[in-house]
Amino acid sequence: MLERVRFLKLLVVSLVVAVSGADKFSRHDFPPGFVFGAGTSAYQVEGAADQDGRTPSIFDTFAHSGIMGGATGDIACDQYHKYKEDVQLMAETGLNAYRFSISWSRLIPNGRGSINPKGLQYYNNLISELISHGIQPHVTLHHVDLPQALEDEYGGWIDRKIVKDFTDYADVCFRMFGDRVQYWTTFNEANVFVLAGYDLGNMPPMHCSFPFGYDHNCSKGNSSTEPYLAAHNILLAHASAARLYKESYQDKQKGFIGFNLFSYWYIPFTNKTEDVIATQRANDFYVGWFAGPLVYGDYPDVMKRNVGSRLPSFTAHESKRIKGSIDFFGINFYNVLHVKDNPETLKMVPRDYNADTAVKLIFVQDNTSSSSFEFPVAPWALQGVLDYFKQTYGNPPIFIHENGQRTLRNATLEDWPRVKSLHGYIGALLDSVRNGSDVRGYFTWSFLDLFELLDGYNSGFGLYYVDLDDPELRRYPKLSARWYSHFLKGGSMGSDGFIELERNSSSTYLSAEVMK
Ligand SMILES: *[C@@H]1O[C@H](CO)[C@@H](O)[C@H](O)[C@H]1NC(C)=O
Ligand SMILES: *[C@@H]1O[C@H](CO)[C@@H](O)[C@H](O)[C@H]1NC(C)=O
Ligand SMILES: *[C@@H]1O[C@H](CO)[C@@H](O)[C@H](O)[C@H]1NC(C)=O
Ligand SMILES: *[C@@H]1O[C@H](CO)[C@@H](O)[C@H](O)[C@H]1NC(C)=O
Ligand SMILES: *[C@@H]1O[C@H](CO)[C@@H](O)[C@H](O)[C@H]1NC(C)=O
Ligand SMILES: *[C@@H]1O[C@H](CO)[C@@H](O)[C@H](O)[C@H]1NC(C)=O
Ligand SMILES: *[C@@H]1O[C@H](CO)[C@@H](O)[C@H](O)[C@H]1NC(C)=O
Repeated sequence: MLERVRFLKLLVVSLVVAVSGADKFSRHDFPPGFVFGAGTSAYQVEGAADQDGRTPSIFDTFAHSGIMGGATGDIACDQYHKYKEDVQLMAETGLNAYRFSISWSRLIPNGRGSINPKGLQYYNNLISELISHGIQPHVTLHHVDLPQALEDEYGGWIDRKIVKDFTDYADVCFRMFGDRVQYWTTFNEANVFVLAGYDLGNMPPMHCSFPFGYDHNCSKGNSSTEPYLAAHNILLAHASAARLYKESYQDKQKGFIGFNLFSYWYIPFTNKTEDVIATQRANDFYVGWFAGPLVYGDYPDVMKRNVGSRLPSFTAHESKRIKGSIDFFGINFYNVLHVKDNPETLKMVPRDYNADTAVKLIFVQDNTSSSSFEFPVAPWALQGVLDYFKQTYGNPPIFIHENGQRTLRNATLEDWPRVKSLHGYIGALLDSVRNGSDVRGYFTWSFLDLFELLDGYNSGFGLYYVDLDDPELRRYPKLSARWYSHFLKGGSMGSDGFIELERNSSSTYLSAEVMK
């Protein structure tokens, strides 16, 4: 016990001074087989949006609506043409794994039916290139980019027809790529997708209904019902694809199939009982909504109570299929939110938008650094999330699929905020692993500065800067790429490393030339 107390004290001290690097570790401190990588998603990096037979997805439509001042992923980082160079860069950086997504509408342009040979060839090439450089492909099947054809035809995720079309698409992927891909994730951030896409309407496919919605009047949708319907169909589609994988492919291909959720670390705004209960409600609504069915076969009770008949229910047969249909959770973690009970209404009422999710609370943004564009670094909060999954969902295998730092895209290559974020979170992760969390890998978001879902090209999360004014779209390492690379190659990361990094950087950086 004393050991534990001293350990915690040390931990607190080291977190406080994490920025100056007292917390020293190397990748050899992690269990054997633990993978470190970086991630992207199809529409955000590939470019070539209308080339070689690809058709638009709901992400294309969203970008082309002008919501981001005209910025789109039409060209993005042009990874479609530059994948060899990028894989080379990954290998030089020392990545064990690359997390990317397949563009459904590049592989199967109508959403169902015939395969596009050029799309098939592209993903075959990318995957083989990764394998030949010793980099594990971790593939997501849906990353905000349902084929627009299916959205137009029957409303996409709000219609149950999607279950069959998604399963057929997944089948093509398992059949064509499963000999080399061992880590499949059906959905990226399913919880954010349904909330932002169908209640707030500020992300694809931009559904919502008056008076709900974020900053604009929605032309289609129903904020009160569609989020629950879309979530339900996503769970059924996942379960169907996972069953197919487990029955027809897993024995032979020896891979794993998982599901990704975005996770805030929720903190009660005060220690009053109602705020503490509201915090549990926040977890039940935004994590339990999906994790509940996936682990226990049903939605959390508080959701059933608050949402009532708007919440679809599973038949006993469906519940059985969904329960246990994942081999791992993918978690995307960035931020802390404070939670305040709201006795006035069932609605969730954040300060600046209006949503109809029946969670009955107010989110209060952590505003301690609201003047800063960068996210506050809160390593203890990642530990909180991991401990929550451990205690609530029986310590499932977890990949941190996304974690990273936002900086102004063209600020500087000397991205100290990202270095400090990597150092803080990887150190925290090590403590969680030592404390028994079954974490199997960590992917930083993102490998390159890409087309960000909310910020377009204003912010960058990348290890590498992409010069958009250069017709060659040349990539440049930021300080964070050097830090990560040093770590990946076995370096011991601590304050002395920081100093060395700074010394090295001053001689090797091109900031002045690139950062106009
Ligand atoms: C949205 O619609 C309402 C009611 O029609 C109107 O009062 C409001 O000005 C509209 N807001 C925007 C941003 O267009
Ligand atoms: C949303 O659907 C519910 C249930 O069908 C209905 O009562 C409500 O009027 C709909 N809202 C809108 C804005 O269409
Ligand atoms: C709530 O209680 C905890 C533990 O006693 C304390 O650390 C924290 O500061 C309190 N939070 C608030 C908002 O008072
Ligand atoms: C932060 O939020 C709290 C509660 O909403 C408010 O009282 C405080 O003034 C805010 N601080 C800043 C710096 O905006
Ligand atoms: C370690 O795990 C225990 C049990 O899950 C938990 O109570 C404790 O808070 C964890 N400590 C840290 C630092 O995460
Ligand atoms: C890049 O920086 C300049 C000034 O430093 C600014 O005017 C411009 O808007 C920035 N561009 C982007 C895409 O952030
Ligand atoms: C700094 O440069 C030296 C010599 O090139 C190299 O051995 C070392 O690994 C570098 N350190 C970091 C932190 O990049």
